[in-house]
Amino acid sequence: MKIQMRTATRKAKETMARFEIITPVKGAVLTLETKRLLLSVYKPSAAEKVTDYLTRNRKFHKPFNQTQRDRYFTVPEQKAYLKSDLLQYKTNTQVGLWISTIEEPWRIIGRLSFYSIIGGCMNSCFVGYHIDENEQGKGYMTEALLAGCDFMFKYYRLHRIEADVMPHNERSIAVATKCGFEKMGLNLRFMEIDGSYKDHIMFVKLNSDVET
Ligand SMILES: CC(C)(COP(=O)(O)OP(=O)(O)OC[C@H]1O[C@@H](n2cnc3c(N)ncnc32)[C@H](O)[C@@H]1OP(=O)(O)O)[C@@H](O)C(=O)NCCC(=O)NCCS
Repeated sequence: MKIQMRTATRKAKETMARFEIITPVKGAVLTLETKRLLLSVYKPSAAEKVTDYLTRNRKFHKPFNQTQRDRYFTVPEQKAYLKSDLLQYKTNTQVGLWISTIEEPWRIIGRLSFYSIIGGCMNSCFVGYHIDENEQGKGYMTEALLAGCDFMFKYYRLHRIEADVMPHNERSIAVATKCGFEKMGLNLRFMEIDGSYKDHIMFVKLNSDVET
């Protein structure tokens, strides 16, 4: 498995136990299990359930996402995105995890993506996330993000993970804060969201457990 490329220190192994790497679920190449969730990197064959999740939540996600054309919400387009995700996973530049509950493993309810992974003296990445409108408020994203950060720190030996959140997105700020991200400042006109570049608050989580 690709993730063995960077080994964790003993100290990191002792302090991080919020996930377990399990045999990948059907259609996945990597699955992490948390208390209630499965976080998986999928092959292109999962395009149908990914499209179903994105389509179900198209209206809800719109104010928080980059503008997408109609064809984004089609199986062939999502197949292409999953192919790209897989390539990026294999080249250690992104870990794009789709979230399901253990009770309903076939139904995607969210996405947690660690992207733009860079090594060298930076050893850092960005994180983005969204969940099904009807699954909010159950603590799922907090559980997924805590586990995902542990995984990235432990197996990719990252030093820093950055999350950028629009100032009015109180739910996301609550999630980032609960997961140990600290507010750093304001990134002006940082990212194109729903048709225009929006200011974002930069939150950062540093890895204090892994010796570098
Ligand atoms: C942000 C998002 C991922 C949160 O997912 P979630 O699974 O509901 O998150 P959790 O249940 O783990 O935690 C939500 C927290 O927000 C808090 N919250 C809910 N509504 C809130 C509000 N109006 N103001 C402040 N906090 C609020 C909850 O109380 C909870 O914190 P608590 O556990 O300390 O009580 C989800 O709302 C979402 O997908 N939003 C749209 C996309 C998005 O905003 N993505 C992030 C872009 S940076």
